[in-house]
Amino acid sequence: MREEPVITRLMTAALERPELLSLAAGFTDNSRLPAAAVERAVAALRASDPGKTYLQYGRNAGDPELRAALAEHLRSFPEETLPGLGPDDMIVTNGSQQLLYMTVQLFCDPGDTVWVQAPSYFVFLELLRGLGVRPVSMPSAPDGAVDTEACRRQLRQWRAAGGAGRPRLAYLMGAFANPSARSLSKEEKAALAEAFRAEAPDLPVVEDMAYRELFFGEPPTVTSMLSMEAWHDHPVLYAGTLTKPFATGLKTGYGLTRSTVWREGLERIKGHQDFGSSQFAQAVLREALRCGDYAHHLREVRPFYAVKAARLEDVLERAGLRAQGWHWESPRGGLLLWLRAPDGLDTSFDGPLWRAAMDESVLYVPGDLCFAEGAPRNFVRLSFGALAAERIEEAARRFLRAAARAAG
Ligand SMILES: Cc1ncc(COP(=O)(O)O)c(C=O)c1O
Repeated sequence: MREEPVITRLMTAALERPELLSLAAGFTDNSRLPAAAVERAVAALRASDPGKTYLQYGRNAGDPELRAALAEHLRSFPEETLPGLGPDDMIVTNGSQQLLYMTVQLFCDPGDTVWVQAPSYFVFLELLRGLGVRPVSMPSAPDGAVDTEACRRQLRQWRAAGGAGRPRLAYLMGAFANPSARSLSKEEKAALAEAFRAEAPDLPVVEDMAYRELFFGEPPTVTSMLSMEAWHDHPVLYAGTLTKPFATGLKTGYGLTRSTVWREGLERIKGHQDFGSSQFAQAVLREALRCGDYAHHLREVRPFYAVKAARLEDVLERAGLRAQGWHWESPRGGLLLWLRAPDGLDTSFDGPLWRAAMDESVLYVPGDLCFAEGAPRNFVRLSFGALAAERIEEAARRFLRAAARAAG
């Protein structure tokens, strides 16, 4: 286990140097947090619930009405049929982070491994290491694509070895992944389903959908594994959250699964950890979903983040960063931009780009942190979530100066 989690290092740097502009933080934008909607929800709760149950302890698995509202909400997405699934198959957690943590506790012991995309969500990689569990990379490309054929070969090898060396869990991000912003296509998921069915029908798979609702432009067709016939008999957990799309501070996530073992295991651990997420946060979210404020908020923030993404890209683009050997795909959703630096430019902590960025007072996430092992050292994760649009442009200009200095 590392002495100091990366997240702490980044936050300490930001706190010690207030002049630093952070393109590292995965926060949402304070200016768009839905304070008025929360106020309306609280007023509605006070009027409708004189017994004030919203300020009382609640159920371990979460508020049944919120779970019902969420199941209905998920079904409102195109192609999301979720056959046979309902509120009883769901558990509400303290952010999806707690769900991920409990899942690892449920399936893994120290010394075990978990299969992850390369790149993957670096806080998850650290969570694993913190529990003594080793992340291992799925065959994937650094742009976030999964090599489904190579995955199948790997699964077959593990099966041929009687399961020796096989991970206890697979962790995938279905939509606007952190950090690549790429989504898995239905075809990729179907190919993976086939491989898992043939070679590892009992290997649990998490599909993390943290950013699914933050799409730019037309709603993309994202069919979750739970809605696909091919995955029907497989132990799959849909990890969702209401933090990124609505209010990060309400810290409410949820898991949905057909696997009784998974759901009951999570409930057992949750019972030991906190015997239920904040009833107040859940009641506010239930109300926001019910009255339409949740949907309204999303209609507002999606174009807002799309504009911020475009402004960040625009500054980098206009300064000719691509001509200097940098590469990236325009994100279609999420809060992140994933950049490949020219070969040989070391972007890791204390490397030339990091030092130059510190001098220029701008913070980014070194891309090597997002890999389980064999990390390339020329990737950078930038976030356009937290900073106001004008500050994003200033941060981007600082980043450009740092890139020029590091290259020169
Ligand atoms: C991919 C991914 N999953 C899960 C989480 C956890 O989010 P929360 O606990 O706020 O739901 C994050 C947060 O950044 C994330 O990026």
